Amino acid sequence: MKKALITGIRGQDGAYLAKLLLEQGYQVYGADRRSSDSSYWRLEKLKIKDKVKIIYMDLLEESNVYEVMRTYKFDEIYNLAAQSFVQVSFNQPLLTANVNSMGTLRILEAIRLFSRDTKFYQASTSELYGKVQEIPQRETTPFYPRSPYAVSKLFAHWITVNYREAYGMFNVCGILFNHESPLRSIEFITKKVVNGVCKIKLGLVDKIEVGNIEAKRDWGYAPEYVYGMYLMMNHPNPDDFVLATGEIHSVKELIEKAFSLVDIYISWQDKDGKIIGVDQQGKIRVQTNQEYYRPSEVDILVGDYSKAKQILGWEPKVKFDKLIEIMVEEEMKELKEKK
Ligand code: NAP
Ligand code: GDD
Repeated sequence: MKKALITGIRGQDGAYLAKLLLEQGYQVYGADRRSSDSSYWRLEKLKIKDKVKIIYMDLLEESNVYEVMRTYKFDEIYNLAAQSFVQVSFNQPLLTANVNSMGTLRILEAIRLFSRDTKFYQASTSELYGKVQEIPQRETTPFYPRSPYAVSKLFAHWITVNYREAYGMFNVCGILFNHESPLRSIEFITKKVVNGVCKIKLGLVDKIEVGNIEAKRDWGYAPEYVYGMYLMMNHPNPDDFVLATGEIHSVKELIEKAFSLVDIYISWQDKDGKIIGVDQQGKIRVQTNQEYYRPSEVDILVGDYSKAKQILGWEPKVKFDKLIEIMVEEEMKELKEKK
C-alpha cells in the first residue's frame, strides 16, 4: 500500500485528491496546520474524514516538517498547502513568501536529508505567466509573475526543478490553470458569484460586489485536475505539465452565465456609477467596487494542455458552461437545505 502525504488537506484540491488516492488504494495522510477552527467540512462532505490520517505540520515550522519526513518516509508528497489568494498576497507578501516559497524548500530539504526516495508534487500555477508572453500559455512560455503570490510560487517552482536536476529527486510541477468546484472557498470569484447569484434568487441578498470584470481566465473542474496530479506522479519520468481547458471566458461572462441559470436579467453599476441594463425588479444586481481591484492584474490566462494529453493521456471533460451549471446546482441545493 502506497503512503501519500497531502499538505493543504483542508483545501479544495486536498479534499478531492485525498478521495482519489483513497480510491486508488493509497494510505492517505493529511498535513494540517493547527488552528482553533478544526472543521474538516470538505473531507466530511466527500465522506472521507475518517479515512484520512491527520498529521499536524505547519510549513512555517522547520523542525516540524523535518520530524514528519524523518518519521513517516512517505512514497509520495503532494504539496498543495499555500497562502493561495492572490489579492491577500498584496497585503501579506512576507507571510505568502514564507509559506509558499520557503515552505516548499523546507519540505524539499527534509526529503533530501531524510527520505530521498519520496516523490514530490509541487502545486505550480498559471499565475506564473502573469503578464502573458504568449497565447495560449504552455510549459515553454516565459514566466512574468504579477503578484507577491505569483513571485512566491515562481521560487517554489524553480527550486523544485532545481532539486530534481541537482539531486536526481523525483519532483514534478503541475502548472495548473484555475480550477473550481462546489468546494471552492468563497473568496474566489466563481464561488463568490455563484453564491451571490443563488442568494439573490432566494431573496437572501440584493446584489453582489465585484472588481475587474474584464479579466479573462481558463476555468476547469477541480476533480479532473487532481487526477492530472496523480498521473504526473505515476508517470515513469518526473516532468512539468500544464493542465487547462484551453477555453477562455471573462469574469463578466461568468456573471452573465450564473444569472442566466437562475433566470434573472442583470442590471450593472460600473465603478463610475453608470447603470447598464434593467433587472425585472428594478434593482441593481452587480456593483463594481474598487476594493476588489488588484494593484497589478493578470488580464488573460488560457492554457495549452497538449503535452499532458500526449504524455499522460489527460484531457478535461468539464468546460466552462458545465462547470458553472454544476456549481449553481449544488449551491442552490445547499442554500435551500439551510433555509
Ligand atoms: P486552498 O483551498 O486555499 O487550500 C490551501 C491549503 O493550504 C489550506 O488548507 C490551508 O490551510 C493550507 N495552508 C496555508 N498555510 C499553511 C501553512 N503555513 N502550513 C500548512 N498548511 C497551510 O487552495 P486550493 O485551491 O486547494 O489549491 C491547492 C494548491 O494549488 C495551492 O498551493 C494553490 O496555490 C495551488 N493552485 C490552485 C489553483 C486553483 O485554481 N485552485 C490553481 C493553480 C495552483 P487552512 O485550511 O488552515 O487555511
Ligand atoms: N476573488 C475575486 N473577487 N476576484 C475578482 C473579483 C472579486 O470580487 N472581481 C473580479 N475578480 C477577478 C480578479 O481580479 C481576477 O482577475 C479573476 O477575477 C480571478 O480571481 P480569483 O478567483 O481570485 O482567482 P485568481 O485567478 O486570482 O487565482 C486563482 O487561480 C490561480 C491559478 O491561475 C487562485 O486559485 C490561485 O491560488 C491560483 O494559483
